[in-house]
This record gives sequence, C-alpha cells and structure tokens, in this order.
Amino acid sequence: MKTFSKAIYTERRKQLKLLVGSGKLLFLGNEESSMNFKDNWYPFRQDSSFLYFFGLDLPGLAAVIDIDEDREMLFGNDLTAEESVWHGATLQLADLADMVGVDKVSSIDGLPKYLKPKTDIHILPPYRPENAQKLAQWLEVSVLQIASLASEVFIKAVVKLRSVKSPEEIREINKAVTCSAAMHKRVLQEAKSGMKEYEIVGMITGEAIRSGGNLSFTPIVTIDGQILHNHNYSQTLTDGKMLLCDFGAETAMHYAGDITRTLPVGPAFSANQKEVYQIVRDAHQTAIESLRPGVRFKNIHLLACKKLAEGLSAIGLMKGNLDDAVENGAHALFFPCGLGHMMGLDVHDMEDLGEQYVGYTETLVKSTQFGLKSLRLGKELEEGYVLTIEPGIYFNPLLIDQWKAEKKHSAFIRYDQVANYRDFGGIRIEDDFVITNGGSELLGEPLEVEIDALEAIRRTALSANA
Ligand code: GLY
Ligand code: MN
Repeated sequence: MKTFSKAIYTERRKQLKLLVGSGKLLFLGNEESSMNFKDNWYPFRQDSSFLYFFGLDLPGLAAVIDIDEDREMLFGNDLTAEESVWHGATLQLADLADMVGVDKVSSIDGLPKYLKPKTDIHILPPYRPENAQKLAQWLEVSVLQIASLASEVFIKAVVKLRSVKSPEEIREINKAVTCSAAMHKRVLQEAKSGMKEYEIVGMITGEAIRSGGNLSFTPIVTIDGQILHNHNYSQTLTDGKMLLCDFGAETAMHYAGDITRTLPVGPAFSANQKEVYQIVRDAHQTAIESLRPGVRFKNIHLLACKKLAEGLSAIGLMKGNLDDAVENGAHALFFPCGLGHMMGLDVHDMEDLGEQYVGYTETLVKSTQFGLKSLRLGKELEEGYVLTIEPGIYFNPLLIDQWKAEKKHSAFIRYDQVANYRDFGGIRIEDDFVITNGGSELLGEPLEVEIDALEAIRRTALSANA
C-alpha cells in the first residue's frame, strides 16, 4: 500500500477541522463487497474521501475526527490468525494509524459507543448499501433516512479541499493520464478489422494492471459511439466504421486518468467522418484555449456547443440563429451531455458527494434542460482544478426519430439531412487538464488527436500487421 507522507494527511485533516469548526466527523471506509456469493468479491476499492484524509487502502476501517476534543481515532479490527490463513498478514491497526499520523485506535465494535451522545455527528452521503446500513445502525435511524442526515458543512469542506489538487496529486494524476495514453496508443497500433471489441478491452485492461494500477472506470470501446456509456463489447470491428475508445487507468494510489479517441477501423476516415471529426476537434480546441482561473466552465461548455452547432450548420444539419439554437438546447440532439467533469481520486471526482456541491454554487444551480442537465461542472475554475474536456457529436437514431416526430427544435434542425447520418455512430475526443495560474496544462504524455496524425499511425500499423 502506497501512501503520501503522514504530514500530508495530518495537514489535510487540520484544514478540514478549521473548515467544519465543531462536532465529530465520521469517515466510513469501504468493505469487501460480494459479487455472486459471499466470498467472491468485487475488486476492493477504498472510498476516495477516506483515502484523501486517511490514505489507508484496506477494507473494514472507519475513522472519527472529534474537532471539539481535537482527537483523531482509527477504527478497525486486527486480522485474526485464522483470517490470515486466507488473506495473509496485514499491519496492526496501530501501525496503520501511525503511517498516516493518527495516534489513537479502537476496535470497530467500539465505534457506536464512541459516537454517543449522538449530537453534532457529521457524515458524508453513503453510496454503498452496506455502508448505509452500518450508519443507520450506529446512528439509530432507518436506512431510508440516512441520506438525509448527510452534513452539508462537512460535504462542502471536503469538496473545497479535494477540488484543488496539490503538486503530489498532480504528479499522480499525470502518471494515470500517461498510462491512459499508453493504453490508447496500443489500440491505435493494434485495432483492425475482424477483431472483437472485447479483444481491445482485454488488451487495455492488461495495460492498466501491468502499470501497477487498474482501470479508472468501466471502459467504453465501441463501434456504436453514439451510445454514450456503451458497455457492450460483442461487436466485430469492420472497415469503414469508427471505434470510439473512452477509458483510463488509475494509479496504485487511485488517481484517475480519462481519455477518449475515435479512430477509423481502416487506415483512414471517410469524407463524412473527417468532416464531423474536425467539428468535434475544433470544439475541443476552442474549449482548451478558454481554460483559465475565473472562467465559468458552463460558459466554456456553451462556447463549445456553439462551435459544434456552427460546424453542424456548415455541413447542413442545423440552421437558423445558432445562439438561439444553443440557448434553447437544439444542439443537444447531437451533444446530449456535458463538456467535462472534475477528475482526481474519482474519475468523476466526488460525484458521491453530490453534483450540485462539486460542480455548482449556491447562486449557480444545475440546469434541468436536456443536455445541460448532464453538465457535471458549471462553476468558475480555480488554479489546481483538474478536469476533462470531452466534446462529441452523436447520431442516436432513437432520439432523432423521437425529436423528428415531435418536430422538436425544427427551426434549428434539418431533419431531412440528419436522416443521412442515422448510421454514422458517434465521435468523442477527450483530454485531461490542470488549471494553472495563466491558463491550463495538458496532463500526461500528449496523444495524437489530429486527423492526419491518427491516419498516419493507422496506415503504418495496418500495413505492418497485414
Ligand atoms: N469518460 C467517461 C465519462 O466521463 O463519463
Ligand atoms: Mn470523462
């Protein structure tokens, strides 16, 4: 288990105490979680806020920061000799606590008593049923009530601290993104007509694990790129199609990378594919050039939407006043999602704490408009934020049919022309950035993105593999 120095965790907890002010902050680490029978577990993944403040990547732990008593306590159980037969020996609880600057430990059975009297206890919203159940039991409320007990002041403090990445975090994220780019480079080299999508998934999963980490989320590897989060890998790659690859690695310390490239299965894009790819690439570049502290990400999203709408108008798929089209959400037929999201210990960083808290403010509330409602980040950027830029154009036949039947936004959409793109699929381009004092920096090793560069790699790779 790799951790930062204990001084880093101690300082993070100190800042948290200052922000929350009083009370007991309860952190619940994750447990092993059963997949199809009790002892067959999903791969263990620690809770990211627990990792951020306590750094310990093991199941069955909890911690309390008692701000009023200025006491920090780690709760868990030392492995019995019998358990070690199956799971090997781990460090004793006291040694684990010492690694991250905590000097008091207790058996986890002592936790409910430690929380008494049950006043001024702060919890984060649980997202795993077993943790919701434990919290409900300890706090003596029903499982249905537990989410409503999440502490706003605690959530806001955690979001404030985790949003701004420190230099050692940026180094980890850089590693994750570089590994993610290497995974993509393998696909650019090895994808070819006749392969199954799952062969690519197997290959990139191997790369992520070989790097000492893992995947940062379930990969999207599909010739049906119009399905935004397609996790079906059963199709065969065929010449003329494009393969949309959206995946990334997380490091051993669980910092994420998240990159998307869309490549031709054959050696080159078709003329139509090139046109649409270039529109997405132009929106991608426009968004990147707008990144700097103080700018609202929602405005960058809208700028990218306008760029997409201009391109779509130029190839005859949209019409009319494009400012009005974007304001009314007409472009969302082709781009029904957000331009990007924060990234860190989670690929969608802190999404468990609530998108309104992470991506918006008291005066900037997330929109309910189709398209904009999927924008996870809207607020002003700050130096140290890490985020993705991921515009796309998608032709979803079901959505096209529905909108056409409703004559939805027909002042802005040329449905007769859109009909020619029903089988086009989708294109997304995604890279990861850190906001700097003067603008932004690309994270990780650069990965080819221009049409010419992608085609050159594909041509060479396919002739070498022929
Ligand atoms: N790259 C996948 C996502 O952001 O949802
Ligand atoms: Mn993403």
